[in-house]
Amino acid sequence: MRMVNIITSFSILCSLAWVCNIICAVRADLSYTFPEERKQQYVIGNIAKDLGLDIKRLSARKARIETEGSTKRYCEINVSNGNLVVAETIDREELCGSKISCILNYELVLENPLDVHRISLEIEDVNDNAPRFTKKRITFNIMESADKGERFPLDEAHDSDIGQNAVQGYSLERNAHFILSVKENADGGKYAELILDKELDREQTKEIDLIFTAIDGGTPQRSGTALIHINVLDVNDNTPVFSQSVYKVTLAENSPLGSEVITVSATDADEGVNGEVSYELSRISDKAAKIFSIDKTTGHITVGGNIDYEEETSYEIRVQAIDGSGLASTAKLIIDITDVNDNAPRIILKSLNSQISENSSIRSEVAIINVQDNDSGDNQKVRCSIQENVPFQMNPSIKNYFSIVTTSLLDREKTSDYNITIIATDGGSPPLSTSITFHLSVSDINDNPPVFEQLSYTAYVTENNKPGTSISAVIARDPDWRQNGTVLYSLVPSEIHGVPLSSFVSINSDTGVIHAVRAFDYEKFRDFKVLVSARDNGSPPLSSNVTVSVFISDENDNAPQILYPAPDGKTLMTEMVPKATHSGSLLSKVIAVDADSGQNAWLSYQIIKSTDPGLFTIGLHSGEIRTQRDIIESDSMKQNLVISVKDNGQPPLSATCSVYLLISDNLAEVPELKDMTYEESNSKLTFYLIIALVSVSTFFLTFIILILAVRFCHRRKPRLLFDGAVAIPSAYLPPNYAEVEGAGTLRSSYNYDTYLTTGSRTSDFKFITSYNDATLTAGETLKNVKNETLSASLITLNNAGEENED
Ligand SMILES: *[C@@H]1O[C@H](CO)[C@@H](O)[C@H](O)[C@H]1NC(C)=O
Ligand SMILES: *[C@@H]1O[C@H](CO)[C@@H](O)[C@H](O)[C@H]1NC(C)=O
Ligand SMILES: *[C@@H]1O[C@H](CO)[C@@H](O)[C@H](O)[C@H]1NC(C)=O
Repeated sequence: MRMVNIITSFSILCSLAWVCNIICAVRADLSYTFPEERKQQYVIGNIAKDLGLDIKRLSARKARIETEGSTKRYCEINVSNGNLVVAETIDREELCGSKISCILNYELVLENPLDVHRISLEIEDVNDNAPRFTKKRITFNIMESADKGERFPLDEAHDSDIGQNAVQGYSLERNAHFILSVKENADGGKYAELILDKELDREQTKEIDLIFTAIDGGTPQRSGTALIHINVLDVNDNTPVFSQSVYKVTLAENSPLGSEVITVSATDADEGVNGEVSYELSRISDKAAKIFSIDKTTGHITVGGNIDYEEETSYEIRVQAIDGSGLASTAKLIIDITDVNDNAPRIILKSLNSQISENSSIRSEVAIINVQDNDSGDNQKVRCSIQENVPFQMNPSIKNYFSIVTTSLLDREKTSDYNITIIATDGGSPPLSTSITFHLSVSDINDNPPVFEQLSYTAYVTENNKPGTSISAVIARDPDWRQNGTVLYSLVPSEIHGVPLSSFVSINSDTGVIHAVRAFDYEKFRDFKVLVSARDNGSPPLSSNVTVSVFISDENDNAPQILYPAPDGKTLMTEMVPKATHSGSLLSKVIAVDADSGQNAWLSYQIIKSTDPGLFTIGLHSGEIRTQRDIIESDSMKQNLVISVKDNGQPPLSATCSVYLLISDNLAEVPELKDMTYEESNSKLTFYLIIALVSVSTFFLTFIILILAVRFCHRRKPRLLFDGAVAIPSAYLPPNYAEVEGAGTLRSSYNYDTYLTTGSRTSDFKFITSYNDATLTAGETLKNVKNETLSASLITLNNAGEENED
């Protein structure tokens, strides 16, 4: 090996020397080759011998080695033996670097005579340098996605030595992924490339360390190593993977904002950014997007809006997990919303008759309602109720419709309007309820007649009232509405004793006040009945009647009337008194009546003037004239009494009359009487009187016979008054006197006595006739009646006188 080297270097040297000779034209007398790194005094060669110089003279000739220029002198000559020795260890690499030939040129200078010999020293390389990598650690960042066969050039190792001693090859530690390829570059240097033999997977092997060795060709062989550090770079070859492909949750509606729905998670095997998973909701409806939100980094899905079961019962959302490089995968998220009873039922009034007639039949429909609840299931089941105490009920109709009907007949007069409250409650827990109230008014029907406050009315009026005074008032009430309840009063037409009622009383149709139209006379009639009708204004109207009994009360407006003797004195009436009359004998009787009643008709008699005051008395109430003592001879034959009849009214009214008494046993004995009686009569009158007497006598007899016949025929007829009593014309008796409640102060029997001179059965007066027919004809005056009666009395008296004479 060494031989080869020497030969090679020699040949090279020769050729170079030749070139140099030509170029430099310098003689190269001596040429030596020796290896580098020789110690001092290493003998390169013997110059003296080689040049044929005399060793002994070397010193004398001052043999010395001269350098050209400033080059360092690495060798010197040993003048004692002529050897060229190393003066300083030579490092070829330092001296010549990577030059192939490393030649030092020196000159051997000899003096005496001057001689110059060129010495060229060629320094041979010695393998003293191992190959060296500039970087002890070579780092590669290789994507895991790198393809098989991809090459990665490696730095060339450097070896200062040259030739065989320089880098001759490389080797790589055995490994699974890489092989080495050694190549030679243009300048002969060897370099290596790393070739990917098997694909990398970062997820399996993140880093690979390989020892890379460079070897040279020297002997002994030297090597240098470097560490190849391979970082397998991640390639985003993994998509994120969700823990579940479908997430399913149930969520109550109305979940509060911010509450968690679910947390999704996805993992990505990649590292760094490629493994950083962020989440988002994809394929989400606009509505859902407003409700749900996801935390990009944690996958925490929260409620961000109102969840309303009634709007959406379920949401299907895609959740996407994206890694840093955009690889994404999705999972399905199904959110089922559960219903919460958050909707109260709704009551919708579909139709309403706000007015219902009070005569509506039972089960009349009043309103229709519809009930709804937006919840579902039990929360949607609605129960409806109507408040109690109203005559209405709810009838379920078709599907959530209810009709409200009456359950009884209505009466506006009892309840005129209703507030109907309907409550709807759902079946949730807790249940929700809603109520609705609507107003219903009952419209009127004229179903109530006016009703008088009293069953009957009684009115008292004092006679001689002023026309127009109100005598009574009736009130009728009608509970109906407006005109159906407006009461109008009227009199039911009738007649009182043939006279229309309207000429007695009138009624105010609005107020029910009854007015007298004229002044009443108790003596004409004492009471009457008025039928008042109250009518409402409905159509048709309803009415009711009431009777008003009007009682006329007496006023002392009538003075006593003296029937016997005649009060005016025109007709002379004389009572015959027998001379032998004893004390206490009844002589005569004053008969007086009073058209009034009660106290007003209670008469008292008084003698206010008499011829002989001690002789006669008169019964205070009987009017009977009696002797107070026996008649004596000395008493005047003609006695005259003035009698006053007074009633008991306030103030009292009175009348007077004169009674002539003739104390005689024989009428003929008293001639004065004739004069007195017939003072103003003439012969003509006497004649008529005689005729009258005869005819009356005849009539009287016939009359007696007739009476007897009539009596015989009508035996069952009630007897009139009683025999022997003085017949008082019934016209002067108060009709139905006993019926007058509270009007008089006297008992009826006592009152009756004032008209009948009871207890005087010896009286000569006879019943004459009934005056009933003649008395109560309306319009006739009382005066006429009196006159008739008086003339009739006169006739009776005359008859009596005749009988007496017989
Ligand atoms: C009904 O309600 C109204 C108003 O709230 C009230 O004025 C009226 O008195 C009520 N009617 C009944 C019958 O309760
Ligand atoms: C009165 O009653 C009649 C039916 O009898 C009815 O039609 C009318 O509406 C009522 N009037 C009022 C004011 O209520
Ligand atoms: C009231 O009296 C009149 C007359 O007698 C009669 O026609 C009418 O029917 C009566 N009305 C009532 C409600 O009794």
